[in-house]
Amino acid sequence: MTFPTENEMLKLFEIGKKNNSITLGDIMKYFNIESFNNNKIDEIGLHLQVFRKKDYTNVSFLHGHIIHFSLINYLKANIDISNINIFETGTARGFSSVIMAYTLDNMERSGIINTFDIKHYNTKSESDCLCAALKQQRVSSIDCLEPFKSLVEKYIKFNVGDTNRILKTRKTDRIHFAFLDGDHKYSSLKLELNYVSKTQKTGDIIIVDDYSITELKKATDEFLENGNYTWDILEGQVGKKTRKYAHLKKK
Ligand SMILES: C[S@@+](CC[C@H](N)C(=O)[O-])C[C@H]1O[C@@H](n2cnc3c(N)ncnc32)[C@H](O)[C@@H]1O
Repeated sequence: MTFPTENEMLKLFEIGKKNNSITLGDIMKYFNIESFNNNKIDEIGLHLQVFRKKDYTNVSFLHGHIIHFSLINYLKANIDISNINIFETGTARGFSSVIMAYTLDNMERSGIINTFDIKHYNTKSESDCLCAALKQQRVSSIDCLEPFKSLVEKYIKFNVGDTNRILKTRKTDRIHFAFLDGDHKYSSLKLELNYVSKTQKTGDIIIVDDYSITELKKATDEFLENGNYTWDILEGQVGKKTRKYAHLKKK
């Protein structure tokens, strides 16, 4: 097994930043965001979202910006909510979880981020990220998250298991904000959307990653037929590909 070098990771990071910059302005406009700390999003991206893959041209962490801006707006519109309940499927190395933790912290808000992954956050299976490059060995998500330890301890609760099984019986309070990026299957996303939506009130948010995937588009479109949400599809140009994200707001 060969691990990437730090230099390789820094080159991919530059590609990722360039990819993000193509559509970042449009995303900022959509969320009415005039300025933000892009260095912080980049720092989180470098550690947790830049990784070696076959098509190195499509490195990107634009979904981090989308989550960050959407959560900023949600927090501004809901200053009365004292404890924000966030739900996420698909923890992976924790990029999106840390983005949401940073956003809560930066806005001086309390809350919890319940994130779910079938893979255990302590399993040393990551070999293509910056942490693996620096240590030249396989690392776990928890190893990758070391630079963000205080945010992790303050806000993030890791849940391990198959959401297709867990969500059938798991009880939850109102979910204010959800990011769905776990099992990329039609039936799984349907289950997740129904699970979240039955708890939500007016103004609450669901973001669906990878809306460009046919199965996920079908599940989202069918779910939206219930008429309970307004929505927009956001697009990001990533290398040669266009990635799509569905942004849903409860009516
Ligand atoms: C695209 S990654 C998530 C990326 C992450 N949200 C981020 O922004 O860094 C998808 C993750 O979903 C997890 N996953 C796939 N099927 C799952 C299931 N049935 N239950 C829970 N997690 C699942 C995978 O193990 C993988 O880590």
